[in-house]
Amino acid sequence: MSGTDPIGPIEDRPNPVRQISDGPLRSELNRDIPVARPFEFAPLRIGPLTIDPPVVLAPMAGVTNAPFRSLCRRFSKSRCLYVSEMITARAFIEGHSRTLKLASFGADEQDKKSIQLYGTHPETLAQATKILVEDWGVHHIDMNFGCPVRKVTASGGGAAIPVRPKLLASIVRAVVKSAGAVPVTIKFRKGIDDSLLTYLDAGRIGEQEGARAVALHARTAAQLYSGTADWAAIATLKQHVKSIPVLGNGDIFECWDALRMLRETGCDGVVVGRGCLGRPWLFGELVAVLTGEAPPPPPNLGIVLDTLREHASLLAEFFGEPLGMQQLRKFTGWYLKGFPGCKRQLPALHLVKTLADLDLLLTDLPRDLPYPEIALRARRCKDGRAQEKVALPAGFLDCRFDELQIQDPIEMDGG
Ligand SMILES: Cc1cc2nc3c(=O)[nH]c(=O)nc-3n(C[C@H](O)[C@H](O)[C@H](O)COP(=O)(O)O)c2cc1C
Repeated sequence: MSGTDPIGPIEDRPNPVRQISDGPLRSELNRDIPVARPFEFAPLRIGPLTIDPPVVLAPMAGVTNAPFRSLCRRFSKSRCLYVSEMITARAFIEGHSRTLKLASFGADEQDKKSIQLYGTHPETLAQATKILVEDWGVHHIDMNFGCPVRKVTASGGGAAIPVRPKLLASIVRAVVKSAGAVPVTIKFRKGIDDSLLTYLDAGRIGEQEGARAVALHARTAAQLYSGTADWAAIATLKQHVKSIPVLGNGDIFECWDALRMLRETGCDGVVVGRGCLGRPWLFGELVAVLTGEAPPPPPNLGIVLDTLREHASLLAEFFGEPLGMQQLRKFTGWYLKGFPGCKRQLPALHLVKTLADLDLLLTDLPRDLPYPEIALRARRCKDGRAQEKVALPAGFLDCRFDELQIQDPIEMDGG
């Protein structure tokens, strides 16, 4: 330890014994949720892929690159499905170096390469799919029909696509055909806003056009990430889509939430996004409770710091040290969230340029602090704002059941 204590006087720190003696760490909301009974949840089958237990890492732009997927895999012994962030089909075909890098897979992923594609034109998407299947050997393609970012919907992409059912159908059809035996899944939101809900149509179209599963982020595009996800909509979708698995997505922050979502909605699997930001061990906890075991004890600060350090090394290895350290910045706040006194370290952590700088800053932190309960459901990334109006191309809502073609944008960031 250095002379100055970075986290303040010892008496202000939470009592580490309380959480340990209380058993598994969980919020009040999940106090009485039991782990899975034997055979309570069937493995998730997406075409030829079996995912057991039925847990999927959500595609997240700027997050679910190969280094982060590798961490999530390690904690869950590769038992889940770990989807890449969204890759723009046109940029991929044109060979943009950043896109190719983000689309690449780690040595540990060679048996289950899962990628999310974004685009608006069936032919471009089909072409990207062909390359991914034939040259890159991917095992799963997910399609983004849920991105609510203004730039994306304003050009008719992401969450705007399900508004035009024929466009959606033509895209899914083209990608499924091009993918051959490789399973294609689609991910969408409830709709544009409460006055234009499209998820039941999107589910039906996915089913009819050969998707092997559908995933619903149970919010509208207008909601962005605000409010609570509407799990009842997941249950409704499950009632409508009978021939392929329905995956539920939204607000799984603790492993117990996954049990509740599966039980309350009857969905076939869960897709986990923000809950794992700075908490990749969540996947280990999910595997445990869904297979009937108690989750491993929550990490203390020491283990969190070791994980952060491992993440930093993986990022440096993947992107090179300068860019890797830049990429690490957003993760540091997520890892340290809720640990008393750690917030004041963030400005310095955000400036690190090398792994050696990082090591110097991490050595002074008190490794024995217990994991703070408040961090379980703390907001990570994306604020609680909604958008008043979802931007759509001019005339997009007129004749919405007609055919439509949209040229592909070159590059987009997800959300
Ligand atoms: C940082 C960030 C990036 C995201 N990027 C994508 C993306 O590239 N593709 C996508 O389909 N969804 C994306 N999403 C949405 C998530 O996949 C997920 O649907 C959403 O976060 C709701 O799940 P959650 O409540 O578990 O976070 C992103 C979400 C976040 C927080």
